[in-house]
Amino acid sequence: MLLSLIHHLLFCKLYLQEAHISNMDFVPKLAPFLSSFLIALVYLVPLFSARQGQYVIEKRLNTLVNDHLVTNLPNQPEVDFRHYAGFLTVNETSGRALFYWFYEAATRPDEKPLVLWLNGGPGCSSVGYGATQEIGPFIVDANGNGIKYNPDSWNREANMLFLESPVGVGFSYSNTSTDYNILGDEFTANDAYAFLHKWFLKFPSYRTRMFYIAGESYAGKYIPELAEFIIDRNKDASLHINLRGILMGNPETNDAEDWRGMVDYAWSHAVISDETHKVISLSCNFSSDDTWSNNDCSDSVDELLRQYKEIDIYSLYTSVCARNSASSDQKSTQVMFTRASKMLYCQMPRIMGGYDPCLDEYAKAFYNRLDVQKALHVSDGHHLRNWSICNETIFNEWKYSKPSVLPIYTKLIGAGIRIWVYSGDTDGRVPVLSTRYSISSLGLKITKSWRPWYHQRQVSGWFQEYEGLTFATFRGAGHAVPIFKPSDSLAFFSAFLLGDAPPSAR
Ligand SMILES: *[C@@H]1O[C@H](CO)[C@@H](O)[C@H](O)[C@H]1NC(C)=O
Ligand SMILES: *[C@@H]1O[C@H](CO)[C@@H](O)[C@H](O)[C@H]1NC(C)=O
Ligand SMILES: *[C@@H]1O[C@H](CO)[C@@H](O)[C@H](O)[C@H]1NC(C)=O
Ligand SMILES: *[C@@H]1O[C@H](CO)[C@@H](O)[C@H](O)[C@H]1NC(C)=O
Ligand SMILES: *[C@@H]1O[C@H](CO)[C@@H](O)[C@H](O)[C@H]1NC(C)=O
Repeated sequence: MLLSLIHHLLFCKLYLQEAHISNMDFVPKLAPFLSSFLIALVYLVPLFSARQGQYVIEKRLNTLVNDHLVTNLPNQPEVDFRHYAGFLTVNETSGRALFYWFYEAATRPDEKPLVLWLNGGPGCSSVGYGATQEIGPFIVDANGNGIKYNPDSWNREANMLFLESPVGVGFSYSNTSTDYNILGDEFTANDAYAFLHKWFLKFPSYRTRMFYIAGESYAGKYIPELAEFIIDRNKDASLHINLRGILMGNPETNDAEDWRGMVDYAWSHAVISDETHKVISLSCNFSSDDTWSNNDCSDSVDELLRQYKEIDIYSLYTSVCARNSASSDQKSTQVMFTRASKMLYCQMPRIMGGYDPCLDEYAKAFYNRLDVQKALHVSDGHHLRNWSICNETIFNEWKYSKPSVLPIYTKLIGAGIRIWVYSGDTDGRVPVLSTRYSISSLGLKITKSWRPWYHQRQVSGWFQEYEGLTFATFRGAGHAVPIFKPSDSLAFFSAFLLGDAPPSAR
């Protein structure tokens, strides 16, 4: 009860701050503040007169104040927007709950779209990567184990929702352990879809808002799969979600093209020899179900992976994290490749990348703090949950992965969904060549030919528009593009939301 009250007061305080900051908004902003204050009075008076009615009042207050509001996140920089975190149950019978963190847009959240961000793996956390290394307002800070403000946060342009999915990733869990034996693409899309409807019940003002899904890496599979799920169910008006577009960075798209691109990129960027490349070209058929039964092929792909183990495959020209020898060992096992299993390497979670290759460790330290977990409503303040940035068991035991989502692209284009794909051109894991091979195989008509796009008077990369799809590169960025090019990424995101081409003049 007391907690709800405190939440309410803080909520009011935030409104007041917001009103202070932009004078022009003062009157409309003050009105809801005053009215919520009055409503609070109406609810509070009976509390003091009739103690027996406390439970009822508490329930009424909870519907008035969202109990997922985050009010005391340790080390949090002061901000003028609200953010919420917590679990939502997606399946009552097996007890599955997904963890989310939602940041309102920094200004005018009522007028801005809603964007769901997903990271990949499978098994990696959208909170650990997307929210706190790439595009969230609070990013992990190298000194100590705190967080700092990110001036290029994507919540400047949209209301940003980060989801840890599926169960077993980050804080998300299932009370039925056998659920972990059936994780795959479809299971993930199903639970993410259930999550969205649960989330809209908690945040009803977003129910009909313009909605987009964005993400990177293995989310290249998750995103079109979830979009298709939504489109199919939108036929039922009561389930309608206002999906407008999808945005994907260095996305896994089509296993055969992704492999071809990875091999050609390693050769053209001097990671493997002409001889190795030639053997792979002659002996590997990446379209076959039986690629690795050819020894020449698997030996030479092994050679490629051996070379990549020496550097950061996700960012060819930056250093690896040398702080912690234990994590370097882990890195070797993550790049391990089993001849029998094409799946294993195909779905490898990303390791480290970015200017600071040790970011994963800072995130791990931060999210394993009891005070942080309490503030995010994942712990009662006594029992620590074990949080890791990627769950290797999930990755290793993934049951089903769609070999290609290109047929879904075609379906989404037909449904009028905006598709933008971007690629950091120094990533060796899902390199720009993989993405170009995949898009090229769609055979779409080119509507605006290849040209540079600019940010702050410099070439950020190149882009090309097709009927139904826009493709762009980020010059000198690794796998997780916004870590490398925060300001360019925000400008690009803004263009995507508007549906305008990225700026093509200096
Ligand atoms: C809950 O999950 C189980 C599998 O663990 C599934 O059989 C069941 O259909 C799900 N229930 C709903 C309502 O989706
Ligand atoms: C999982 O089990 C715990 C302990 O019984 C319970 O507190 C929690 O609510 C359950 N989670 C879900 C999503 O049902
Ligand atoms: C990782 O996933 C497995 C199931 O695949 C689960 O049992 C385990 O609790 C998860 N680990 C963490 C740290 O969440
Ligand atoms: C590669 O495998 C696919 C699928 O099995 C097959 O259709 C194709 O003919 C093969 N290509 C070559 C060059 O053998
Ligand atoms: C947390 O999870 C990791 C990875 O699954 C595991 O190695 C570690 O032992 C776990 N720690 C605790 C305290 O459970």
